[in-house]
Amino acid sequence: LSWPEAPKIVTKEIPGPKSKEILEKEDTYETVTEMAPRGIPMAWSEAFGSTVKDPDGNMYIDLVAGVATNNVGHSHPKVVEVIRRECAILMHNGGAPNLPRQRLGEKLSQIAPGKLKGNVKITYGLSGSSAIEIATKFAKKATQRHFVASFEGSYHGAIGTTLDLGTSARGRGIRGAYRPFSPFVLHLGPYAYCYRCPFNLKYPECDLQCAKYVEFQIGSPRSGLDAQDIAAIVIEPIQGEGGYVPPPEGFLSYIKKVCERFGILFIADEIQFGMGRAGKFFSIEHYGVEPD
Ligand SMILES: Cc1ncc(COP(=O)(O)O)c(C=O)c1O
Repeated sequence: LSWPEAPKIVTKEIPGPKSKEILEKEDTYETVTEMAPRGIPMAWSEAFGSTVKDPDGNMYIDLVAGVATNNVGHSHPKVVEVIRRECAILMHNGGAPNLPRQRLGEKLSQIAPGKLKGNVKITYGLSGSSAIEIATKFAKKATQRHFVASFEGSYHGAIGTTLDLGTSARGRGIRGAYRPFSPFVLHLGPYAYCYRCPFNLKYPECDLQCAKYVEFQIGSPRSGLDAQDIAAIVIEPIQGEGGYVPPPEGFLSYIKKVCERFGILFIADEIQFGMGRAGKFFSIEHYGVEPD
């Protein structure tokens, strides 16, 4: 399911002349966001499996998979077949009821982790950012509280509340130009980053000092936070942009218990590590914790 000849470079330099023209025109007509992928200056003309062609005939191996969106590779024949079939029957209908949509909701509900299985309601977002934005909105409405919190090193998106939630390098890079931030967004931490432990401790002798510190931040009147007004904590079960950090056993369940004690909802951001990318459909399933 990839072109076996890749990688193969046929032009003297990268970008080749056709790629170069496209890149220059893109620069002229489009805003360049922080995220524009120009690590290799090339335009894409076609991709298949884990290989890519540029318009000058060069072939590359793709290690990005469309920011991990193409879990099954580019243009997998089964995916292409379904998209073709469905587009020929029904395209945009403004969210009106239809059978594939109903089936998808049912399926997602059936694979929800733990006791949530068969017991959740689905809302469809347009992107990772919008999914997290919607989750925080719902949490505020459900709890009638004002604040949402995230972790040091997190990345939750590039718009609105999600932009304010993120503190990873990527988040900061995007945030820099968009002050002021919401006063109703809190940053907790540290995340359980054992390889670079901010407490300079070793797991398990550390006794999860990081989780205990978060408990202090939330629970102690001396920390300055008002736990009774925190609607939700948004957390990546495995941190992505913050350094690809799987927390040790016990961290997420500790945070979940703290949330339960203070009536705070636990929102798992599965945008980067969910959908099977960490081996189970939702990465939080590795830790036996149920999000809200
Ligand atoms: C953990 C996490 N949450 C949210 C997002 C935002 O997703 P999107 O870029 O689709 O808005 C990302 C994107 O990288 C992410 O890694």
